[in-house]
Amino acid sequence: MSTTHEAGWAHAPGGLRGPNWLQPPTDPNALVASLWSSTAHKEDGDLVVGGVAVADLVAEHNTPAYVLDEADFRARAQAFRDAFADYDVYYAGKAFLCTSVARWVAEEGLSLDVCSPGELTIALRAQFDPARIGYHGNNKTHPELRRAVASGVGRIVVDSFAEIERLAQITEELDLVQGVMVRVTAGVEAHTHEYIATAHEDQKFGFSITSGDAFDAVRRVEAAPGLRLLGLHSHIGSQIFDASGFEVAARRVLRLHARVGDELGVTMPEMDLGGGFGIAYTTQDDPSEPARLASEMTKIVQDECRGLEIEVPRLSIEPGRAIVGPSMCTVYTVGTVKPVALDGGAVRTYVSVDGGMSDNIRTALYDADYSCTIAARASAAPPVLARVVGKHCEAGDIVVRDEFLPADVAPGDLLAVPGTGAYCRSMASNYNHALRPPVIAVRDGETRVLLRRETEDDLLATDVGA
Ligand code: LLP
Repeated sequence: MSTTHEAGWAHAPGGLRGPNWLQPPTDPNALVASLWSSTAHKEDGDLVVGGVAVADLVAEHNTPAYVLDEADFRARAQAFRDAFADYDVYYAGKAFLCTSVARWVAEEGLSLDVCSPGELTIALRAQFDPARIGYHGNNKTHPELRRAVASGVGRIVVDSFAEIERLAQITEELDLVQGVMVRVTAGVEAHTHEYIATAHEDQKFGFSITSGDAFDAVRRVEAAPGLRLLGLHSHIGSQIFDASGFEVAARRVLRLHARVGDELGVTMPEMDLGGGFGIAYTTQDDPSEPARLASEMTKIVQDECRGLEIEVPRLSIEPGRAIVGPSMCTVYTVGTVKPVALDGGAVRTYVSVDGGMSDNIRTALYDADYSCTIAARASAAPPVLARVVGKHCEAGDIVVRDEFLPADVAPGDLLAVPGTGAYCRSMASNYNHALRPPVIAVRDGETRVLLRRETEDDLLATDVGA
C-alpha cells in the first residue's frame, strides 16, 4: 500500500510531515553539502567521494562499508592545527582510530588523546611519538598505568585519588617522572544529551571543584616526587554548540588554577579545555569554524586571566568528532521497503538496510538524527518520508529516524549516510553476530582498505567452546 501522491508528500492523503526541522527537498537526489565531506558530490545521481564512485567501491568491497575521505580528514585536522596554532591540539582517538589514521594525525602535526590500552596499542603501532600522547580514563588499572609510564606517554590525566597513588608508586618503582594533568569537574550542565555531558557534578568523571577534591588532588600530585604537575583538565561534554557552558567552565577552572598559584605557590604551565565541538548531522545543526572557536575560547581565557592577574597557561584542546565525524559516510544496500500504516491513515516508509545499530548505535543510544541519500542513481519520483532501519532484532534498530527519499526507493538501491566518522565504527558491535564493516579510505580516485571487513572466522576465533 502507498499513499504517495505523484505531486509529493504534501498532497498525499494523511501524508506524514516528519519533524518540523525537516523540509521536503525540492530535489531528493541533491546532497546537502554542509553534511558531507568536502569532496563528496553527485554525478548523474552517482555519489562520488574522494574521486571514487561509491557504486564502484561497493562493487569491489560490498556493503555495509564506512567510506573515509582522507583529504577531508586531513583538511579538518589542519584547520584545527592552524586555527589553534598557539595550542596543542590532541585528536581524540576514541572518535575513531586505526593505525593509518594515527599516522595521518602525526603527519598533520597533531598530538593524540587515547583512553584505553587498545588505543595506546594502535598509537604505538603507528609509531606515534609517545611524548605527544595524552592518556585518559576514570579507571586505569595498575598494569595499564605502568605501561603508559614505561612507554613514555607525555601526560596522564588523573581522575581519582586511587590513580594518583598508583601513579606515585609506579613512578617510584620505575624511577621515572610522569607528566600529569588533573581532570576537574566544573559543575556545568552542558546543553547536549545527558550521556555525553561530563561536567555536571553527578557523574563519574573528574574531581569536583566545588567539593574541594580538585584542589586536594592537585596538592597530592604536587607532593609526589615522581609526578610532574602540568595543569588542570576540563572537558564539559560532546556535540556542543553553545559556548556559554564552556565559558562558565573555563572561568571556574582558571580560578582554581589561580588559587593553586596563590596557596601552593605553584604555577601550573598548562591547561586543557577538552573537546566536544559539535558537527552538523542534519540541517538543524550549525557548527562554528575552528577559527571562530579558537578566537572565542582564547578571548574567554585571556579575559579571565587578566582579571585574575595570572599568566595564560599553555592551552590544549581535544577535538575528535569535529575532525573525523564529517569525513566518513556509511554505505548500505537497501533490502526491503515496507510502507506501514499509522493511526490516522498516514504511512511511514520503512527502508531496511544491511547494517544498523551494530555499525551505528548513536541513533538508538542518543536519539541522534542523521540524513541519507540514495547513492547510485537519480530518481524523478517525489519525496516520501522514510525511516531507515537496520537488520537487527529490535524495533529501536534505527539508522535514520526521518528523511525524505524518492518514493521509488527499492531493494538493491545503495543508501549513504553522512557524518558517521565519529563514534560509529569505534562503538560498533557484533550484536546478532554481525560482522563489523570495513573502513575504506578514498583519495584522488584511489581506494585503500584501512580496516578490513570482519569475517565469520573472526567471530569463531574468539569462540573457543568447540
Ligand atoms: N576529551 C575527553 C576527555 C573526552 O571524554 C572526549 C569525548 C573528547 C575529548 C572528544 O570529544 P569530541 O570532540 O569527539 O566531542 N559516544 C558519544 C560521544 C562520547 C564522547 C566521549 N568523550 C557520541 O557518539 O556522541
